[in-house]
Amino acid sequence: MKWLKRELEEIKKQNLYRERINVEGLKDFCSNDYLGLRKHPEVIEASIKALKDYGLGSGASQLVSGYTKYHKELEEKLAQFKGVQKCLLFGSGFLANVGVIPVLAGEGDLILSDELNHASIIDGVRLSKADKKIFKHMDYDSVEEFLKKNRKNYRRVLIVTDTVFSMDGDIADLRRLAKICEEYDCMLYIDEAHSTATIGKGGLDYFGLKHKDYIIVMGTLSKALGGYGAFICGTELLIEFLVNKARSLIFSTSLPPNVCAGVKKALEIIENNPHIIDNLRIIENKLIKIFKELQLEFKYFKTPIIPVMVYQEEKALRLRNSLLREGVFLQAIRYPTVPKGKARLRLTASLSYTDEDLEFLRAALKKVLKEKKG
Ligand SMILES: Cc1ncc(COP(=O)(O)O)c(C=O)c1O
Repeated sequence: MKWLKRELEEIKKQNLYRERINVEGLKDFCSNDYLGLRKHPEVIEASIKALKDYGLGSGASQLVSGYTKYHKELEEKLAQFKGVQKCLLFGSGFLANVGVIPVLAGEGDLILSDELNHASIIDGVRLSKADKKIFKHMDYDSVEEFLKKNRKNYRRVLIVTDTVFSMDGDIADLRRLAKICEEYDCMLYIDEAHSTATIGKGGLDYFGLKHKDYIIVMGTLSKALGGYGAFICGTELLIEFLVNKARSLIFSTSLPPNVCAGVKKALEIIENNPHIIDNLRIIENKLIKIFKELQLEFKYFKTPIIPVMVYQEEKALRLRNSLLREGVFLQAIRYPTVPKGKARLRLTASLSYTDEDLEFLRAALKKVLKEKKG
C-alpha cells in the first residue's frame, strides 16, 4: 500500500491536501447555518422532546419501520413551505442527488447539467445511463441551441442546476430555465440546498414562479434550516415513483426523528418571523463593508455565500492558516471543489454573528493582510 503515501505526497505538492480542523475555540465564519437556527432554543427543545420520545436513531429505512409521525409532519410542512403538492425526506443532500437524478433520466434520455453544479449532482449525473451534456455556467443560450437541434433524439430530458451556487453564491435564472423546459418539454431539477430560506422560501418564490409538474425541487435541511438531511418536493405522482425507485431512500436508514422535529420547528420560526431572511441581507452588507475597507476581492449576489477570491491554492492555504492563528475559521476552498487557480475563502453570512464577531473578523483580516504585505 505504498501508493497511498505517494498519492498523498502528490496532493500535498499541488497544495490540494485536505485535513479536518476542529472548530472548537475558533469563530466560525464559513458554516451554512445562515439563519443561526442550529442553536435556537426552541429548535433544541423540540428536538429534545422527540429524542426522549423516540430515542437516538430511527432504527430502519422509511420503507421498513423508520417512518414516524415526525417524518410525516416535516414532509407536510416542507411541501406547504415550498408550495408543492408533496415532499419526501432523504438522509442527506448527497443521497438525494445520487438517488433521484439517475431514476429521472436513464437510457435513451438526456441530462443537461451546469458545469458548476455541486459534486453530488455531478455524481448523480454520472450514475445515470442517460446521455450527458455539461453546459457552461449559466449559458442558457447554449442549452436552447442544443435542444433546438437535438431534443427530437431523446425520450426524456432533464435540466439540472443549483439554484444558488454553493461556492460562488450566484443565482440560476430559473425563469429562463422554466421557459426553456416548457418550450422543449424537459424536466427541471433544482438543487435548493443554499436557496431554501435564504432568497425567500427558495428559487420559485424568489422568481415568482408557481410550481409545475415538470419541476423537481431538491433541498437540504442542513443549511438555513439548521439540521441535517434533505428533501425532494414535487407532485404526488413523482413522490410515489421515488418511494418505489430511489435506491438511496429505499436502502438507507431514515433520519433520526429528533432531527425532523427540530427542523419542523425551524420552519415554524421562519414563518413566524417574516423579516428573518431580510435580516440576512443586513449581515451580508456589514461583511461587504469590511471587505471593501480591506480592499479584498469578493463576489456578492445578495445571497449569504460571499467568496473572497484568492486564486492561488497556496495563497489561500496560507491565508486560512494565518486566520486560524487569530482564532478565525475561514476555510480555503480549492480544486476539485472549484476549478484550479480559482481558490477562495468561502465566507458565509449568518444571523448568528454579533457586531463583536464582525469586529473580531475585521481585526483578524486586517492583521493577517498587513503581515502578508510586510
Ligand atoms: C448544492 C448542494 N447540494 C447538495 C449538497 C449535499 O448536501 P448534504 O450536505 O446534505 O449531503 C450540498 C452541500 O452540502 C450542496 O452545497
